[in-house]
Amino acid sequence: MRTIIVTGLLWSGLTAGAAWMAPGGAAGAAWLGRDDAAGAGSAAAGTTPVALVYPSTWPAPLYKGPLTQEGIALGRKLFYDPRLSKDSTISCASCHEQYAAFATFDHSLSHGYNNTLTTRNAPALQNLAWQKAYMWDGRIPHLEDQPAAPITGSNEMGETLQGVLAKLKKDRTYRQMFAAAKMAINEKTLGNALSQFMVCLISSDSKYDKVKRGQATFTLPERLGYAIFQQKCSACHPEPFFTDGSYRNISMTLDTTLNDVGRMKVTGRKEDSLAFKVPSLRNVVLTFPYGHDGRYPDIRTVLERYHLTNYEIGQLKAFLYTLTDSTFIKDPRFSAPG
Ligand code: HEC
Ligand code: HEC
Repeated sequence: MRTIIVTGLLWSGLTAGAAWMAPGGAAGAAWLGRDDAAGAGSAAAGTTPVALVYPSTWPAPLYKGPLTQEGIALGRKLFYDPRLSKDSTISCASCHEQYAAFATFDHSLSHGYNNTLTTRNAPALQNLAWQKAYMWDGRIPHLEDQPAAPITGSNEMGETLQGVLAKLKKDRTYRQMFAAAKMAINEKTLGNALSQFMVCLISSDSKYDKVKRGQATFTLPERLGYAIFQQKCSACHPEPFFTDGSYRNISMTLDTTLNDVGRMKVTGRKEDSLAFKVPSLRNVVLTFPYGHDGRYPDIRTVLERYHLTNYEIGQLKAFLYTLTDSTFIKDPRFSAPG
C-alpha cells in the first residue's frame, strides 16, 4: 500500500506545497514527519493511508488510529456541513472558525441551535492528536467520542445522532464518500471521520517554530518575553504545545450565572473545584476572549491575574505574538471543501 506523506499536494489539488511548507524550502528533517506516526499501519484495503507530518522534535501523537485520504476528506466535509445540526444552520465550523485557529472569533460564548448560547468559550482546535482528554474539564477522553457532544447538545447543534445518520444515509455524495473510506454509516464512523480531519489540524509554523528551526530570530522584546515565559509560565504551559494538559484553578471565581465548577464535575473531588484544562497558548492572539467562559476580553486582562509587572506583561505579550501561525489559519486543506 502506498503511504502518502501529507504535503501541500494533498486533498485540494494544490500545485505547490508553499502554503504548507515553511518558507525557506522543503524545510529539512525538522519538518518532515515520521512514518511511525498515526496513520501508517492498519488502514482498510482500498484506502490511501496518510502519515501525519509534524516536527521531529515533538513526541509521538497519542492518537493512534489510522488516517486515510478518504477518511480525512469525509471528516472535512462533515466538519463544514450545517446539516449536522437540527435545522441545518450550524456546522462545527460555525463555532470553530479557521481564521481564529478554529475557536469562535471575538465571542466569549458561541451561538448554537435556535439562538442558544454555549456555556463555555470554544477552544482552538489544534494539535489535538497530542491531547490527553478533551473539553475544558477533560470529560471526554477519546477524540472520536467528542463529536456526539456538540451534535446532540441542545445549545450547540440540537440534533440526534439518529437524525444526522438518517440525513447522511439519504445523501448520495455521503454514501459514496463513506464507501470510499470503507466505512459503514454509523455513530462510530461519524466520530472517526471527524477525528481524522481534526487530527490533521497541526499548528507548527509560527514565528516561534521558525526560531526553533533556525529560520528566524526573535526581536529583543520577544527574546526577553520568552525568558520570562520559561520562568513564570512553563510549569503549566510547557513547550512545544504550551499546555501540560492538566487541570488547574488559577484563583478563578465562580460565575454565578453559569455556575461552572469545572473539573470537579468530572472527578467529584473538592480540590478540583474551578479547575479547568490549561489551554494551549498557540495562536493565542487569535482566540480572544480568554478563559473557559471567555471572561477576559484581551491578553492584558489575563496577564494581570498572574501578578506580573507592567514590564513583564509587555515582554510576555511580544513573545505570545510569536505563537501566531498564519500558515495554519490559511491552510487551504483545512478550509471548507469546494
Ligand atoms: C455552538 C458552538 C459549537 C459547535 C457547533 C461545535 N462546537 Fe466544538 N466546542 C464548543 C465549545 C463551547 C467547546 C468547549 C466545551 C466544553 O469545554 O465543555 C467545544 C469543544 C470542542 C472540542 C474539544 C477541544 C479541546 O481542546 O478540548 C472539540 C474537539 C470540538 N469542540 C469539536 C467540534 C466538532 C467536531 C463539532 C461538530 C460536530 C463541534 N465542535 C461543534 C463549541 C462548539
Ligand atoms: C498554575 C498553572 C498556570 C500557570 C503557572 C500559568 N497559567 Fe495561564 N492558564 C492556566 C489555566 C488553568 C488557564 C485557564 C483558566 C480558566 O479559564 O479557568 C490559563 C489561561 C491562560 C490564558 C488564556 C488562554 C485562553 O485561550 O483562554 C493565557 C493567555 C495564559 N494563561 C497565559 C499565561 C502566562 C503568560 C503565564 C505566565 C505568566 C501563565 N499563563 C501561567 C494555568 C496556568
